[in-house]
Order: sequence, then structure tokens, then C-alpha cells
Amino acid sequence: MRLIFLGPPGVGKGTQAQRLAAEEGIPQVSTGEILRHAVKQGTPLGKQAQGFMDTGKLVPDEVVIGIIRERVGGAECARGYILDGFPRTVAQAEALDQMLCKNGGPGIDHVVSFEVPHADLIRRLSGRRSCPACQAVYHLEHAPPKREGRCDKCGGALVQRDDDKPETVEARLTVYDRQTRPLIEYYEKRGLLRCVEASASIDQVYERLRAAVRTPRPT
Ligand code: AP5
Repeated sequence: MRLIFLGPPGVGKGTQAQRLAAEEGIPQVSTGEILRHAVKQGTPLGKQAQGFMDTGKLVPDEVVIGIIRERVGGAECARGYILDGFPRTVAQAEALDQMLCKNGGPGIDHVVSFEVPHADLIRRLSGRRSCPACQAVYHLEHAPPKREGRCDKCGGALVQRDDDKPETVEARLTVYDRQTRPLIEYYEKRGLLRCVEASASIDQVYERLRAAVRTPRPT
């Protein structure tokens, strides 16, 4: 199964990708997580990316395309993958098309577009807490940890992401509308788009997602 998850910040892409990836036994390739890890480690990639991420802008295309080329071409992704947060521009989508065509392997099966109203996105992002050690994601109201401030899985201290501050959130939502939303039409024209209405509970959205990706594409 080769999937792309599209949708605005806070819509629940990461939450659903983690779950489906575990069930299917395929990797979740999150460019956001890869970049945050690089920033934390202070690598050259992290130093290059940090300024863009802190202000809610996209990291330059050539940088993220390089990350994906390395991952998708690797053995870990041979059985499939979920691309969570990539592509985010038409240039990235075209580069991915070329990459998959050049590799001669199978292309993308489905592109899942998640949508919720704007006000829900703000609530989801302001209540999000995550574990930097194991990447588990929580929400203060909708998916709270059992012990306040601590990760259920590894006991690590939960943090609020730097880019979840209100001023950065607004910038990220604007960037999504301008640079990423056009991909919905890009993939619709290719017959790959599956829309999942994501305002329901995490479990209900997961059932909708499973139904969407298990329905064969019309030929
Ligand atoms: P990235 O990490 O990809 O951030 P994002 O796309 O903005 O997405 P988020 O992680 O904020 O949200 P999500 O949809 O995964 O929601 P989640 O599941 O956590 O990117 C960060 C930055 O990296 C970018 O701004 C950019 O600078 C850079 N970058 C990354 N990829 C790039 C690329 N390809 N090109 C260039 N730059 C790139 O859920 C949110 C909250 O809601 C959680 O608390 C969760 O518990 C809760 N929740 C989830 N589902 C539900 C539900 N159904 N009901 C109630 N609560 C829910």
C-alpha cells in the first residue's frame, strides 16, 4: 500500500498515519518528524530547516525532495509506505511522480485528503501535546495521556510543539491554502484522490480512512 496523506495542519494526518502504518506493517514517512529530529540533533539539515519551520513556512523543495528520494528508494519502503506531509507543493508532487516512474516500481495507490472546519484545526493544534522521544501524539481534551504531562508509551515528558503557537499556526494555515491545497486538484485529475471528512472522533475517522483506502480505484 502506497499512500499520500494530504490536509491542513492539525487535521489528524499524523494520528491516522501512525495507526494505519502499525496495522499495515508499513512505515509512516513524516517529513515534519524527520525535520524536527534534524533540528533537535543540530545537523546541517536541521540548521537549514529551523528558520522556515519556526515561522510556519515550507522548507525549500529541493531539501525535502532529497529526504523523500532517500527514504522511498530504501529497503524499508519496499512493501509500501504512508507519506505524511509530503508532497506539499506541485513541484514536490512532480518530483515524486518522476522518482516513482524512474524506479519503475508501482505508483501511489491513493491520496487521502482530510478536511475539518478551520475552528476545529485551531482547537486541535492548541491542545496537542507530543512526546519528542517516541513521537506519540496526544490531545488535552480528545486524547489525553493517562498521567498528566507524561507519555503513556515511554513515560517521556510531553511538550507543545514550537510551531503550535497561535501566530505560527495562522502562518501555517495560510501556507497550506496557498501552496498545498492546489494538490487536491492535481491528484483529483489523476483519479487518485480519496476525501475523508475528519471532524468525527479519532476512531470514527480511522474507520472512514480504512474504508477509503480499501476500496479499489475505478478503472
Ligand atoms: P508537519 O509536522 O508535517 O506539520 P503539519 O502538516 O502542519 O501537520 P501537523 O503535524 O501539525 O498536524 P497533523 O495533521 O499531523 O495532526 P495530528 O495528527 O498531530 O510539518 C511541520 C513543518 O515542517 C512545516 O510547517 C514545514 O515547515 C516543514 N515541512 C514538513 N513537510 C514539508 C514539506 N513536504 N515541504 C516543505 N516543508 C515541510 O493531530 C493534531 C491534534 O489533534 C493532536 O493533538 C491529535 O491528538 C488531535 N486529533 C487528531 N485527530 C482528532 C480527531 N479526529 N478528533 C479530535 N482530536 C484529534
